[in-house]
Amino acid sequence: MDPVNVFDFATLAKKRLDPVAWDYLEGGSEDEQTLHDNREGFKKIIIRPRVLVDTHKIDTSLTLLGLKLDYPILFDPAGGKNCFFPNGELEVSRAAGKSKTLHITNGGIEATLQEGTAAENWWQLTTGGILTNKAQTRSFVRRIEAQGCKGICLTVDIMHVSQREREIHNKLERSWCETGLPKRDAAGKLPVAKTPWKAGILPSKASPLPTWETLAELCAATSLPVIVKGIMTAEDGDRCVQYGAKACIVSNHGARQQDSVGGTIEALPEVVRAVNGRIPVLMDGGIRRGTDILKALALGATAVCIARPYLYGMASFGQAGVERVIHLLHTELALNMGLAGVPNLRSIDKSLVRIRGL
Ligand SMILES: Cc1cc2nc3c(=O)[nH]c(=O)nc-3n(C[C@H](O)[C@H](O)[C@H](O)COP(=O)(O)O)c2cc1C
Repeated sequence: MDPVNVFDFATLAKKRLDPVAWDYLEGGSEDEQTLHDNREGFKKIIIRPRVLVDTHKIDTSLTLLGLKLDYPILFDPAGGKNCFFPNGELEVSRAAGKSKTLHITNGGIEATLQEGTAAENWWQLTTGGILTNKAQTRSFVRRIEAQGCKGICLTVDIMHVSQREREIHNKLERSWCETGLPKRDAAGKLPVAKTPWKAGILPSKASPLPTWETLAELCAATSLPVIVKGIMTAEDGDRCVQYGAKACIVSNHGARQQDSVGGTIEALPEVVRAVNGRIPVLMDGGIRRGTDILKALALGATAVCIARPYLYGMASFGQAGVERVIHLLHTELALNMGLAGVPNLRSIDKSLVRIRGL
């Protein structure tokens, strides 16, 4: 494959995808200020390499919630994968299995579980919509426990769908995110959407939304660890511990939900401080390089998650592209650990970085 880094894969994905699908993959909400900040945040952090440390063996492995992982890079959940590649969730599931990556799945991986090609370690995503009563929660939990799921990832930042202006301008039909984009006609036009993404819709929901009590109930209903995804503040990091989460992910949903919340790498230190080692803190958002991962680990993340990078790989080459992206990121991380004089994850701490200008 010609792409040598995540950005090359992004260029290729953009070429291969319908522009409307590309916008759905790449875009953020409103002014995309957060999208910008997720990347810019990393540029403010500088690595302080240490020399003459023996790094002839570099070990990127870790144990996360009892799971032995070869490297601290996980696959984030991403809806709408069929817009980028047919049966996208299964492509990612097989790639995760092959590359031994922990996969946070949106669901629908029964085929790979049966084939035995799914990742050994996978977490099931939920947004809490199905956890409205105890019976439903129990049946959800029993089903995934029986399937061999290793954890439940509760996304907490999508109680209202944000204003995604690329989708509004493109008149993207919401259901195309599940079915994939229809073919364009001879004039190059997509069919007119029946329920296009719109502006000016007041946020209201027919039934109550999940709360911290929902998290506590979910934790009580299962022996699986519950991981809360979408934490941006010290206060909520602390609450995750109080309400029984076994880990949290500092995340702003890849800048696709609330705008103007700042980059996740900027939010990471306050969450790490508040959690104070009681549970692992993970982070995602804007990771494109091994050095980005190194910086996140230095600021206290136990592991990082990625979405767009593997989606670029999938849009370009399906399963093989996903595998190549994770391989590139893993090797970039290992290489930069070698260059920085930190041969294993235990030796990475805050002293490895400084903030530009400070
Ligand atoms: C196309 C797309 C779909 C996504 N769908 C979901 C989703 O269904 N649930 C969720 O919790 N996060 C979703 N996310 C957010 C990611 O899980 C993740 O938090 C974020 O994209 C990480 O930033 P990155 O894309 O810069 O790596 C989605 C992201 C993208 C790009």
